[in-house]
Amino acid sequence: MKKEINGKTKIIGVIGKNIENSLSPLIHNQIILKYSLNFCYLPFQVTETNLTKTIQGIKALNIRGVNITFPYKEKVIEFLDELEESARRIGAVNTIVNNKGFLTGYNTDVIGFKKSLQEDGKFVIKEKKAVILGAGGAARAVVYALLEEEIEEICIFNRTLEKAKKIKQDLSSFFPKSHISVFPLEKEDLKNKIEKSHLLVNTTSIGMAPRVDNTPLPDEKLFHPNILVYDLIYHPAKTLFLRQAERAEANVINGLPMLVYQGIESFYLWTGLKPEGKEVLEIVRQIA
Ligand SMILES: NC(=O)c1ccc[n+]([C@@H]2O[C@H](COP(=O)([O-])OP(=O)(O)OC[C@H]3O[C@@H](n4cnc5c(N)ncnc54)[C@H](OP(=O)(O)O)[C@@H]3O)[C@@H](O)[C@H]2O)c1
Repeated sequence: MKKEINGKTKIIGVIGKNIENSLSPLIHNQIILKYSLNFCYLPFQVTETNLTKTIQGIKALNIRGVNITFPYKEKVIEFLDELEESARRIGAVNTIVNNKGFLTGYNTDVIGFKKSLQEDGKFVIKEKKAVILGAGGAARAVVYALLEEEIEEICIFNRTLEKAKKIKQDLSSFFPKSHISVFPLEKEDLKNKIEKSHLLVNTTSIGMAPRVDNTPLPDEKLFHPNILVYDLIYHPAKTLFLRQAERAEANVINGLPMLVYQGIESFYLWTGLKPEGKEVLEIVRQIA
């Protein structure tokens, strides 16, 4: 099947810093082909100094919408005209929709994470305990998703403790019964908390290509078989973090299902069409 670009083709895409390895163009262009839509999804590699001009460019070039990825999910907010309610609460945006020059920010990572955890990880969130590594834009969506599903306890570990504290402060106001504690990335606290947890999620960028020899956990003995280990990274498909978790006989899940499910939600916001998630995931697994 060949795709034709013509004068009516609508442009969508992804804005990020190191996006050479992003699978989003592949996912979205496969959906476009399958449904014969007159859209085209492009990668936009953007430096931080050009972020303002880039967002203005969405309006100027009449781009229908974009995904926002690492590391601009929080930084982009100040340039938008409006935020959808959950994106406002989370304080991070992964999707922009351009309606005749009016830019609205959404966060589809929440639904992407939740769906991947429930459907691919077969994990029931309610009344469980989780350890979250990282406190950036993705961590905000992950914590929000877990709180929405009434998780019992969340421990956030981050290099910059202030950012973890800020997530706790921002999100616990919307979930008064939540139990969130925050820690620096140190081994003893990690050991105590991981031992008692059912879910361990890496939301940091540590281990992402090209720096594939890195891992956010200081000691692989911290993994145990009774925990589901989730890495939001999908390139490489199996990070060192996940390989070590598997050696400890833990079940693991990588970032690909989340990427596909959040992408489908974004696609729906731009086009009004929502493909079936499992079907797209299967196509992407075969060609990625
Ligand atoms: N699968 C998916 O659909 C999906 C969706 C969203 C994000 N992601 C992935 O999630 C990751 C994070 O994305 P993001 O948007 O949250 O990025 P971000 O806002 O820039 O946050 C990055 C996080 O990683 C931590 N970090 C980075 N380098 C570190 C280092 N050397 N040592 C310790 N901590 C370090 C940061 O700690 P500090 O706060 O101390 O800087 C922060 O917590 C990326 O790999 C992204 O590709 C995947």
